[in-house]
Amino acid sequence: MKIHTYEKLWLVAAMVLIVGFIATITYGSVALGITMVGDQEDTIEPGELGEDERFDDPRVEQVGENEYEAYVIAQTFIFQPDPIEVPENSEVTFYVTARDVIHSFSVVGTNTNTMAIPGEISTMTVEFDEPDEYGIVCNEYCGSGHHNMEGELHVLP
Ligand code: CUA
Repeated sequence: MKIHTYEKLWLVAAMVLIVGFIATITYGSVALGITMVGDQEDTIEPGELGEDERFDDPRVEQVGENEYEAYVIAQTFIFQPDPIEVPENSEVTFYVTARDVIHSFSVVGTNTNTMAIPGEISTMTVEFDEPDEYGIVCNEYCGSGHHNMEGELHVLP
């Protein structure tokens, strides 16, 4: 009887650990100093990025004291703007879309990662606490230059 009780305890402990690991992977921020707050999606005509006031000039725009908006285009085989520059202690909402085929916008070493899809605007808000430099890569196969599709994100002091 006692052994059964211990076995049950271990089973429960194992379950708690497994759920904990999954929660960490799903919600955890891998890198210190960068926190993803939320994400959502919107739509846009991929052929009309040049006429859209958000994407005609991919950029970072200050919209509040510590608040910024970054309009990012992924296309074969670059990210615009590059580098993306934001100050430390800022909250940045990224609006990410693709000009041609499906790409991804993945900030290396963090959980800031979204698909970049023609016709859709992926939105996510990220907090940057400390100066740092991050690589940006594309995780969706998009053609011959996919493996070299890289950008940079600079968090400036
Ligand atoms: Cu863009 Cu892979």
